[in-house]
Amino acid sequence: MDLTGNVAVVTGASSGIGEAAARTLAREGCTVALAARREDRLEALADEIGAEKSLVVPTDVADEADAAALIETTRERLGGVDILVNNAGVARGDPVADADLRDLRRNVRVNLEGVMNVTHAALPTMLDAGSGDIVTVSSMSARFPQEGGSGYTASKFGVNGFCRSLRKELSDEQVRVTIVMPGPVVTELNDWDHWDGRALDPADVASAIEFVVSRPAHVEIPDITVNSTDKLG
Ligand SMILES: NC(=O)c1ccc[n+]([C@@H]2O[C@H](COP(=O)([O-])OP(=O)(O)OC[C@H]3O[C@@H](n4cnc5c(N)ncnc54)[C@H](OP(=O)(O)O)[C@@H]3O)[C@@H](O)[C@H]2O)c1
Repeated sequence: MDLTGNVAVVTGASSGIGEAAARTLAREGCTVALAARREDRLEALADEIGAEKSLVVPTDVADEADAAALIETTRERLGGVDILVNNAGVARGDPVADADLRDLRRNVRVNLEGVMNVTHAALPTMLDAGSGDIVTVSSMSARFPQEGGSGYTASKFGVNGFCRSLRKELSDEQVRVTIVMPGPVVTELNDWDHWDGRALDPADVASAIEFVVSRPAHVEIPDITVNSTDKLG
């Protein structure tokens, strides 16, 4: 389905899966608000996509005011928010016994609270419009916990719980809520050098996101897992 005319907000668009998702959605016709903290990386992507199809909004999703400003700026400049891709994330991991508590909490602050902040800001716009897509990048860690990643795993279990509950709250609305659970993807977050298998490319996950948001309006894909054929979990 052609996505021309849709406005998408992609968090974590400065690298990895978010960058690939922004590129893919723009190619399919969306105008894309690019959100992350590294403005120079967002500007470079905007140059590639084209100024008329992109908007750079430097954002720390863990900051409630920043998240609200992201949505407000997108609404003002692009006229609405049809698609929200909650993708920004960190992976701060050490076994709990060795971990710095601030690192453990940082997973939750960015990965879970960041999703709450941006979703809470975007939802009224979608409800007013009577439609919308909220696609959140979780992880296979939310199904198969990895050792040494308890903070990350906790954040992604939380993300799945938040999204599933939100989906129920929106059962009478035309706003779709999808959880995308990637397996191993080669990005700055994890190069998978330690893993003896073929990892995914960010574009593989971007294709799944594009598939989800381009379904006809009556079709909702609640969860989608994108794994390597070499299997993780
Ligand atoms: N790589 C994998 O194997 C894998 C597997 C399953 C799920 N995931 C999930 O995929 C998502 C994207 O990760 P990735 O693998 O593409 O890693 P990545 O290349 O490191 O990208 C992470 C993105 O999140 C942004 N970000 C981090 N903290 C932020 C904050 N406080 N506010 C706004 N943006 C922030 C980063 O941008 P700035 O630093 O510029 O802010 C960056 O654009 C994450 O949610 C991750 O958990 C990854």
